[in-house]
Amino acid sequence: MAIDFTGLPKTELHIHLEGAIPVESVFTLVRKYGRLSEAPDIEAVRRRYEFDDFAHFLESYRWTVSFLQSPDDYEYVAYEVAGTLARQNVWFTEIMVGLGSGVMDVGHDSADIVRAAWRGLKAAEVQFGIRARLQVATGRQHGVEFAQERLRDIEPLLGEVDICAFNVAGAEHTHPLPQYRGLFERARAMGLRTTMHAGEVSGPGDVYDALDMGAERIGHGIKSALDPQLMAELVRRDIALEVCPVSNEATGAITRLADHPLPRLLRAGVPVTLSSDDPAMFHTSVAREYEVAHEVLGVDCPTLVRIAREGFKRGFMDEPLRAALLARFDAQARAWCAARDVQYPA
Ligand code: ADE
Ligand code: ZN
Repeated sequence: MAIDFTGLPKTELHIHLEGAIPVESVFTLVRKYGRLSEAPDIEAVRRRYEFDDFAHFLESYRWTVSFLQSPDDYEYVAYEVAGTLARQNVWFTEIMVGLGSGVMDVGHDSADIVRAAWRGLKAAEVQFGIRARLQVATGRQHGVEFAQERLRDIEPLLGEVDICAFNVAGAEHTHPLPQYRGLFERARAMGLRTTMHAGEVSGPGDVYDALDMGAERIGHGIKSALDPQLMAELVRRDIALEVCPVSNEATGAITRLADHPLPRLLRAGVPVTLSSDDPAMFHTSVAREYEVAHEVLGVDCPTLVRIAREGFKRGFMDEPLRAALLARFDAQARAWCAARDVQYPA
């Protein structure tokens, strides 16, 4: 029987603002900027989000960012994205704002767009009750110096905006992670937490590098499943992978969703959370990721409830908030299970 995971309380710890903008909102921006020749209707926006490979995905990503022409657009889309999450019973989220092509191609000031996204999230918190933090990200293809400049740009915002982490995403093969060691050390010294994309498209070596650089969580990290010793190391260090199954098939990081390594990671005891990465661009949602894990990958419901709980344990939030959310989770998830004859995990 198909189970709808919308009502299960969840977190969303790996989501890119630009890739999460609902297609209807992208189309609003298409109209606002008079670019109907590029996408005459919402269906045409959806068609832009079919990819041949990872490079093609990054190209479409850049196209979407080209519609975020003013800080107000960032505020608007942050509000819409957080609202979409809240409607799926996401109680806590960390939303990544990319400072790559927004800064390089569009010419934004980093601080302006981060502040604007934060305004959108605060408004969403008032309206929908969702608790949101920001992560700031650059792509590996932009190089280390660019990332360092962006980290400097956001430093003055730290008392004003709740930025929990600096992340590095993008094309893994372009710059080896160890080049970013100094950047993450600096970010930690500024009080930021450490998660980074690693082992999404490239191999297990990238995940070893992330561990060596003090990652507290790892974005994707799915190539760890190729290396039993690495999985054992993730267990030993208690480092969670932010797993995004639908994304991995859409970008070509894996060839077939049914062969996704999530079950192998779970069997090895690797801590995982479930996320949607770029839900609008991958035609998914965080609730759907749970559904896919259940229906396509055969992960049972008690395990999925445990994964949802794991998100609250791993989120970069203060301890009083974590305790409050976990207590609420336990009550509501128990009721959710009881209504579906699902055993509540011990
Ligand atoms: N930026 C947005 N989505 C990404 C992904 N799945 N991998 C790397 N960089 C990204
Ligand atoms: Zn990502």
